[in-house]
Amino acid sequence: MSEQKRIPQHVAIIMDGNGRWAQQHGLERYAGHIQGVESVRRTIKAAARHGVSYLTLYAFSTENWNRPAEEVNALMELFCKCVINETENLKTEGVRVKIIGDKNRLPGNVQEHLTRIEEQTAQGERLTLLLALNYSSRDELTHAVQQLARKVAAGTLNPETITEQSVEQSLYTAGYPDPDLIIRTSGEQRLSNFLLWQAAYAEFYFTPVLWPDFSDEEFARALDEYAARERRFGRVTNRNEERS
Ligand code: FPP
Repeated sequence: MSEQKRIPQHVAIIMDGNGRWAQQHGLERYAGHIQGVESVRRTIKAAARHGVSYLTLYAFSTENWNRPAEEVNALMELFCKCVINETENLKTEGVRVKIIGDKNRLPGNVQEHLTRIEEQTAQGERLTLLLALNYSSRDELTHAVQQLARKVAAGTLNPETITEQSVEQSLYTAGYPDPDLIIRTSGEQRLSNFLLWQAAYAEFYFTPVLWPDFSDEEFARALDEYAARERRFGRVTNRNEERS
């Protein structure tokens, strides 16, 4: 029997290049986001098919509020529309949706739709989809520090007993494993305030492909490259261990 390929348990994606895709096609930026939804759909299915258990998608950062109001509003509408249209499909496919980010600062109707999809997909066991919305890592860490500081001030937490685990449990991603593989599309090679704590030992895959063109083949290439990498987590290689 052939050896089984190592599949990452958790893949996180910085979906970038919608605007450039639209520009290349002579369209408004919004058209790039609409086309990006197709890639989202495709990638969720592909992740489940490959046996990935957690998929995180960076859909809207805390910095994205600085875009023109027209684009921000269009994106908020698109999120609502997707949530309404996709809930049944996601349920059928066994996908559980969770939001990471500061939901409280999103418009009320968006918050309601997001809470509904989290409730309605809560039974999904095949894939957990973490949607990063109004998310940034520094904001997440600031919230975590506030949470811990409140406990110290209330006398329920001794600062000396704060561990890495206590910090992890105060993050939006509490209870989820760290990403094994982080993919960024569109040729940019930076993290842009995404999962800074959680990415400590992640592997990175950068592709020039723009998000709306991100295909099943490109996803499979990222998984192949991940499978070929050696992850040492600060330890020596197995070969060296054998020699020593
Ligand atoms: C980055 O491309 C993309 C975004 C900020 C929005 C991502 C949103 C979607 C893919 C739509 C739907 C998502 C979900 C989860 C339903 P960009 O606009 O920064 O592209 P550019 O760098 O080429 O301008």
